[in-house]
Amino acid sequence: MGSRVWSYAEPAYDLTAQQQTPYADAVYAHAKTDQLSLMVPGHGSSKGSAATALDSFFESEITDYDLPLMLDGVDLGPDSPLVHSRKLAAEAWGADTTWFLTNGASQANRIAAIAVRGLGKHILMQRSSHSSFIDGMLASGLSPSFIMPNIDHDNGAAHGVTPQALEEAFANSTEQIGAVYVISPSYFGATADVAALADIAHRNGAALIVDGAWGAHFGFHAELPESPARLGADLVVSSTHKLAGSLTQSAMLHLGKGEFAERLRPLVDRAYSMTASTSSSSILMASLDIARRTIATGYDDITKSIQIANELRDRLRADPRFGVLCDTFEGYDDIVAVDPLRIAIDVSKLAQNGHWVHNRLLKKHKVYCEMSTATVVVAVIGAGAHPDIDRVMSALDECAQAAGLLGDNPTAEKAQLPALPDAGKLAMLPRDAYFAEIETVPAAEAVGRISVDSLASYPPGIPNVLPGEVITEQLVSFLTAVANNPNGYVRGAVDAAVSHYRVVKE
Ligand SMILES: Cc1ncc(COP(=O)(O)O)c(C=O)c1O
Repeated sequence: MGSRVWSYAEPAYDLTAQQQTPYADAVYAHAKTDQLSLMVPGHGSSKGSAATALDSFFESEITDYDLPLMLDGVDLGPDSPLVHSRKLAAEAWGADTTWFLTNGASQANRIAAIAVRGLGKHILMQRSSHSSFIDGMLASGLSPSFIMPNIDHDNGAAHGVTPQALEEAFANSTEQIGAVYVISPSYFGATADVAALADIAHRNGAALIVDGAWGAHFGFHAELPESPARLGADLVVSSTHKLAGSLTQSAMLHLGKGEFAERLRPLVDRAYSMTASTSSSSILMASLDIARRTIATGYDDITKSIQIANELRDRLRADPRFGVLCDTFEGYDDIVAVDPLRIAIDVSKLAQNGHWVHNRLLKKHKVYCEMSTATVVVAVIGAGAHPDIDRVMSALDECAQAAGLLGDNPTAEKAQLPALPDAGKLAMLPRDAYFAEIETVPAAEAVGRISVDSLASYPPGIPNVLPGEVITEQLVSFLTAVANNPNGYVRGAVDAAVSHYRVVKE
């Protein structure tokens, strides 16, 4: 099941060392020195109105901690506190090297897509990737062949890739593949067999990238799946701000250990420079340092989070109006472990759809869930967070009463939502389509044409069509329905209603 047996007493890293936060301490020490700033950031210049406005909004001296880069004793040189903090992070996640990022796991995905181009042009990738990996692929000119994940069509959920599907993709490929890209865990907490996937990739001469954006907390508790870097992944994309507790937009990229990782190291270094700001936020990076210490030393807090999540699941199972999606996971052979901190609430028995429930939860009850599909509302609990589930259950109860049961109202709106569309045929290389001469056509005329855009319905942001793919009727009706939904939005669309598409000119 991808997890190992260990306890707070014997983590896979040096627990005493993990108590330190060298970079955050250095930022703090610098903030407390008596200084006169004649440099950026502009708000720091003797605390003028800009600093006062920010400090008062945040009700803290936040601007004191917003430091420029290249400060002696903070981040300058090969032995800086920043370097020490990155080493502690690498050790905690089982990586060889870790980069601190201030533009999300989106940046990590772009770095990965650019770096692996150095191993070869051809990659095998899970079709349900996040749009940021596609963007990186367009920049680097990778040529992808897609592997379909297992898909739960009833619930609009893309799961993972099986080792067997990867073996077959290698067997069917006529090109030398440089890298494989998979997502684990999925938006629904389904975790793939990373160890087996790494083994297959390596045997076929390719590196394995795992987009573990949603699994940044993995590896820090016996009941959580293992950190992908410890299972043989060469690059791990990690959205630390998601469930591992750092500030929004802060993230990490981990380089694994071994031959492929070694080949990737200089490529990642260069791709990092290409994608990083030259003014990375010290506040975001300090938050990474602090979050790492908290999660690496907070076993008991995580235990409590898992207990709360388990109790929520049990209460949902006991209520005939609800269910939990992970109870259907047995039927999917890609899933070898499940993230216990993700609760996909099955609302399919209600006469309203998941988006309606999601919306009512937040508007009427101020209970904010991560995402919804037609049948499911997905809640997540941060590792170490302890939310009040009585409040969640009473809000759900009110929603269920307001919605009624589907059996009593068969013409309910939910029946009209289309299913997740299948991918159209890849008719052109994504990069060639992206840079082709384009025209904009109304949705009805776009069917059968080649998209130049990557269009992704949010949530969850998985592209439904890629540059180079043929636009299908199923896609057009799906994206129109998402755009018309109060919680939906389509990233990359010409207009909010997705009434037009950019296509390759004929
Ligand atoms: C699978 C996956 N990868 C990458 C990302 C990008 O993460 P970030 O929001 O940290 O840029 C997301 C965001 O939701 C994601 O779901």
